Order: sequence, then structure tokens, then C-alpha cells
Amino acid sequence: MRKPLIAGNWKMFTGPSAAESLSLALKTTLKDCNWADIVVCPPFTSISAVVSVLKNTAIEIGAQDTFWESEGAYTGEISPVMIREAGCGWVIIGHSERRAHFGESDQTVFKRVNAAMKAGLKPIVCVGETLQQRDSGITEEIVKSQLLGGIGEIRAISNLTIAYEPVWAIGTGRTATPRQAQDVHNVIRTIISEKWGELTASAARILYGGSVKPDNAGDLWQEDDIDGFLVGGASLNADTFSRIIESAK
Ligand code: PGA
Repeated sequence: MRKPLIAGNWKMFTGPSAAESLSLALKTTLKDCNWADIVVCPPFTSISAVVSVLKNTAIEIGAQDTFWESEGAYTGEISPVMIREAGCGWVIIGHSERRAHFGESDQTVFKRVNAAMKAGLKPIVCVGETLQQRDSGITEEIVKSQLLGGIGEIRAISNLTIAYEPVWAIGTGRTATPRQAQDVHNVIRTIISEKWGELTASAARILYGGSVKPDNAGDLWQEDDIDGFLVGGASLNADTFSRIIESAK
């Protein structure tokens, strides 16, 4: 049985004081949650405020990106070691917004994943096709090449989570149907099984992301290979995020 995992990607929202208020609200609404693992990913500058509020709770904290070197003359970058030291256990890598706006590639995803794991962080690696790629019928091909390009060389992936996020469903209000999501999740699990073995595949948690809301979460949970969600917009409100987590019960 895979324990549900729900991660909130706060993107470039919530400075320290808004992040503190949101964390305080989550701390109250989710205090009894033992049926799912919960991770929130604030912007770098809000991590310390969130860590202070959520210490001694079951809610874990992640960053939204990481560089691959531990330290050095890399102006503007943040290392996985620093992220770990700041109190994070998780990190999102290869989000489509980073691929689209900041030149993230499967090669750089690989370097980040590798470095994050060495620093003791659990990566949430994002894959997903654009609308044009879906319409051209190459969804599977794209997801497979992102997956193998990004993590194919990683030997043990038990600390790694995959998030399937179709680009056309992110922040658009247009969710993949449960069937569409399940089909790709199943492809991902099959690839994991072929590459890392059946045991690893059956334990791997595969998240769906893209306009997850309290009212579509229930149907998505029905699918066998959907083990949780990476939630953007709806994670910025304690009530909607908590209702999504409630739906995992
Ligand atoms: P969304 O974002 O829930 O706002 O669509 C998901 C994500 O980008 O991870």
C-alpha cells in the first residue's frame, strides 16, 4: 500500500509573512492528519519562516528548485546542502515552468536530482507533455524521454517521487481526466519497473499535478496509479489545500 503524498507548490507567491500565516493555518487544519504525507514548498526566502511554524508537526518542507554544486562562485544559486540545512527534506526538480522559462533540460534535471539525493533531499521530479505534443500523439514518448533523461542514470530511486504534470493542465483550470492521468501514470510505472524492477515500481509514488482542486481530487484518487498530487494554485489557501488532503482519506 502506497501512502498518499500531497505536495503544495507555492511557486513565486507568499513572502515570509504570508507564508507564515498560511503555515499557521495549515498547522491547525491538518494537525490530525496521519493518512497522508504532506509537503509544502515555499519560495526560498520564506523557507525559514515556514520551518519555524511547522517544526514538530507532520508537515514537511521542500524547496522548488536547487543548483547542483554544494558551494562556490555561482552568484544567485542555492545549493542542496543549503536547502537541507535550512530545514527542508524535499525539493521539486524539473518543473515545467523551469523548463519553459529557465532553460531546464533533462541533463540539468539529472545533475540536480543527483546532487539533491547526495545532500539527503527527496526529489519530486516533474515530467509532462505540452498540448501540442499531446495533440501530436507523442505524450508517452515525451514522458519516457524526460524520465530516462532526468533520472535514468540514478541507481536507486526509492527516495524519489515522480510528478506527472501535463503542461496544458497547469494553472489553466483544465485538469487531465482521471483516465488520461491514469494512462500516463501507468506508463511511468511500467518504465520504472523495466528499469529498476517491479518492487521499486510498486513502491514508487507517482503524483498528478495540474489544476487539482477539492472538487476533482476525489475522482483522481479512484485511479490505481495515482498516489498523490502536486498542487499549485489550490495549495495557497489553507482551506482548499486541506480539503484536497481530506479527500485522500
Ligand atoms: P496548478 O499547478 O495546481 O496551479 O495547476 C500545479 C503545479 O504547477 O505544480
